[in-house]
Amino acid sequence: MSTNQLFNYSVIQMITSKLLAPSLLSADFGNLERDIEVINRSSADWLHIDVMDGVFVPNISFGFPVLEYVKKLSTKPLDVHLMIVQPEKFINECKKTGAMVMNVHYEACTHLNRTVRAIVEAGMQAGVTLNPHTPVELLEDIILEVDLVLLMSVNPGFGGQQFIENTYSKIERLRAMIDRKNAHALVEIDGGVNLQNAAKLYQTGADVLVAGNAIFHSPNIPQTINQFKE
Ligand code: DX5
Ligand code: ZN
Repeated sequence: MSTNQLFNYSVIQMITSKLLAPSLLSADFGNLERDIEVINRSSADWLHIDVMDGVFVPNISFGFPVLEYVKKLSTKPLDVHLMIVQPEKFINECKKTGAMVMNVHYEACTHLNRTVRAIVEAGMQAGVTLNPHTPVELLEDIILEVDLVLLMSVNPGFGGQQFIENTYSKIERLRAMIDRKNAHALVEIDGGVNLQNAAKLYQTGADVLVAGNAIFHSPNIPQTINQFKE
């Protein structure tokens, strides 16, 4: 897919539906090809990819060589979530691995405006991620330049954690800011998302839900994805 095709594809998605991004972190790493194929054939919208450096978060997942492999296999747009310090060093790397969205953490970027602009300049959509304790109000002066805000609903670093309920209030306040400013940013939620809280999250104002364990550890992955979409 060319950059233009990807862009059009995502713009169409943005105006038509609520989106679902299965998180590869919960896939079977010994059968990555099989699991990506299952997602390719499913009704999921994006594939969420978690890169961890063991410094910004207390865990290490995988790096860009694995993403190169994922890029070859996935037919879904890649939503790359960098849980690393100095993510600005990896903008070109990220672009090369075919990322549609590059998410950087607010807490990891001293010059967030510069980083967001560089991501857009590189031809990707710029996502800014907030840890659970970081207030959405801190985005007031950057929201117009951002394509997506990823709200962490667990402390980042691991799959399978419990959803933090305060996230609903953050979605409401972020949605109000986006509407008031007439901004175009999508609202994405990541961590502890499951079939029990998905409908409420979409209703509260989420556009994209990330789900790892709830999808990959379910007995029937395509069926679970359909249930999320319903
Ligand atoms: C956590 C990651 C998430 C994780 C979500 O730090 O950012 O994307 O894979 O996993 P679940 O849905 O199992 O909480
Ligand atoms: Zn993530």
